[in-house]
Amino acid sequence: MTLVFHSIAEVQQWVGEARNQGGTVALVPTMGSLHEGHLALVREAQQRASHVVVSIFVNPLQFGPAEDLKNYPRDLSGDVARLSHLGTSAVFAPGVEEMYPGGPSATRVTVEGMSGVLCGRTRPTHFQGVTTVVAKLFHIVRPDVAVFGEKDWQQLAIIRRMVRDLNFGIDIVGVPIVRESSGLARSSRNQYLTAEDRSRAQALSRALEGARVAYLEGERRREVLRSCVLQTLRDAGLNPEYVEVVEPETLEQSPEALRGPAVIALAVRVGAARLIDNVILGRS
Ligand code: PAJ
Repeated sequence: MTLVFHSIAEVQQWVGEARNQGGTVALVPTMGSLHEGHLALVREAQQRASHVVVSIFVNPLQFGPAEDLKNYPRDLSGDVARLSHLGTSAVFAPGVEEMYPGGPSATRVTVEGMSGVLCGRTRPTHFQGVTTVVAKLFHIVRPDVAVFGEKDWQQLAIIRRMVRDLNFGIDIVGVPIVRESSGLARSSRNQYLTAEDRSRAQALSRALEGARVAYLEGERRREVLRSCVLQTLRDAGLNPEYVEVVEPETLEQSPEALRGPAVIALAVRVGAARLIDNVILGRS
């Protein structure tokens, strides 16, 4: 059975008891509406610690004024059922008032530089909202390990940097992207896609896969790899917000001729959804 806690005091008490019994704690932060991508994170967390806390909180701080906060899919009872099935120990599902009593916190955590590139260009306050809520969750749960998806590569890189800069002492684990059989990366926002959008959205993974194959065949020119992705997207009638080839850790643009690993990251609006995807090149 999965325990569901709505208050900070309850989850902290449970974590305290787990620790007193000599247990270790893994945290999987989510915004709920859980799909196979999230569940892969939970399975990884179960491998890494004796006790797993999945947080479910649609964090207002990371949504821009024109974004989908109100319509963001919510399904707490379905989520708890899916997690019970996996044998997850506990869910922490606080309300907005519990996390931000009296309104949004005055204190914000910002990872400068990295938060302003890629998605940060069109979502200027998004990553500050993410790092602020993740820092709060880390302080509330005090996990040994926290698990994040590579689907949000920029988010993962920023959180790693925050943990290093602020000495959180938490092991950050990344889990590869979980995809549908069509190649589409699983996302709660896929629910916004019509059947026609879905078929166009397959171009994202197809474009990245094309670049990955070109890389494997020896292509190292950044702009050639980038153009290859852009062309596939445009052929599918998509006009990406960005396609960038960046250094995996710093998110700085890769050199013109790639020398080490790189990430090709992209964001595209397809119908009512803004989709992101990426591929890692040259990872050992
Ligand atoms: P959310 O979008 O719910 O995602 C929660 C975690 O699941 C993130 O680490 C994300 O990268 C991972 N994830 C989502 N889809 C995935 C997929 N197809 N394959 C692998 N992992 C996937 O990301 C957030 O919530 C929030 O920003 C959060 C970190 C919880 C802070 O509010």
